[in-house]
Amino acid sequence: MTETLYTNIAQLVTARPGPQRGAAMRDLQVIPDAALLVRDSVIAWVGERTAAPAAAHTHDLGGVAVVPGLTDPHTHAVWAGDRLADFEARISGVPYEEILARGGGIRSTMRATAAASVEDLIALARPRLQALRASGVTTAEVKSGYGLDFGAERRMLTAVRALQPEFGLVPTLLIHVPPTEARAEYVQGVCEDLIPQVAREGLAGAVDVFCEKEAFTVAETRRIFTAARAHGLKLKLHADQFQTLGGTELACELGALSVDHLEASGAAQVAALAASDTVATVLPGVTLHLGLPAAPARALIDAGAILAVGTDLNPGSSPLFSAQLALALAVRLNGLTPAEALTAGTVNAAHALGLTDRGALAPGQRADFLALHSADWRDLTYTLGGNPVRDVFTGGTPA
Ligand code: NIG
Ligand code: FE
Repeated sequence: MTETLYTNIAQLVTARPGPQRGAAMRDLQVIPDAALLVRDSVIAWVGERTAAPAAAHTHDLGGVAVVPGLTDPHTHAVWAGDRLADFEARISGVPYEEILARGGGIRSTMRATAAASVEDLIALARPRLQALRASGVTTAEVKSGYGLDFGAERRMLTAVRALQPEFGLVPTLLIHVPPTEARAEYVQGVCEDLIPQVAREGLAGAVDVFCEKEAFTVAETRRIFTAARAHGLKLKLHADQFQTLGGTELACELGALSVDHLEASGAAQVAALAASDTVATVLPGVTLHLGLPAAPARALIDAGAILAVGTDLNPGSSPLFSAQLALALAVRLNGLTPAEALTAGTVNAAHALGLTDRGALAPGQRADFLALHSADWRDLTYTLGGNPVRDVFTGGTPA
């Protein structure tokens, strides 16, 4: 048994285990002059330093604030090539959807990614995941979706599997954009070949679909989701990024883990999410980088939805390598309070991946926590551009 008591914590923000909705997202417990006992990678005790139990080892954190480790519930961290030409074109006025419709955008990243080996993909993804880790991420979801063919999709998921032990990754199979020809056959292949293979080999725990005018219809999404469920995989969805097609309502009906994006969501989608256990994941990096409207996070929280924030790290719509900055942007762009942002980036983000063992600093939870540079936890969502995270601990071990 290894046992360490972390002491000299100016403020310890516990958050509450499990998903939080509505006003409960603001209800953080902040313990001044605190201590934290970790036994074998798990939190054994938290409280005021003066009441701390004795432990075999102690670790003085130097009088700073401690918060739970962040979960990034939405990334596309594995890709090859770049989207710098798209970026310039968009800045001079060509819309993201038009670039995609012309065969660029996501399709150009697919061409570059399909040409890369598993080793190339691992080498390209590692520094991106290191950047996320330095920003406070102790668990990250990584999607496939840039494979032109099923072999390339499997190579992406194999790269995620190789990086998993180093970074605590959760892999998702993303069915991203259909081929320009033989679309019905592609969807059939996804349902009858790709999903069964991925489920059999344990390469992903969930299936995500991009439900949008330039991608998959609601009917195609339903078909893919039905196959995913039949093979024991969980559901996630990219929906309402540009248009509200009905994907959010479908995902809520089928009990998806999360619906992500929501920039174009209106009252009907807010109501559907608030009445469900499906997490509404907002991605402020996309709002900033594509100049889209901010997802209605304030309305979602006020209506009682479970809200999470992710980076959506990807080369086209969100080159955002910091989960801390995603939370800071959610406060500015989506109207979250700092406390709501912390909940959105910890327990609620973990729930968006079906994980309940992390995100709060409470007995029995994984000992994933961050020591900030500051004595005040609010620096986590205040700082723009600098990194307020000093040390990252995963399972009680410095990362
Ligand atoms: O989450 N919108 C669809 N998929 C990604 C973007 C991928 C890309 O542009 O490469 C997203 O925004
Ligand atoms: Fe995405």
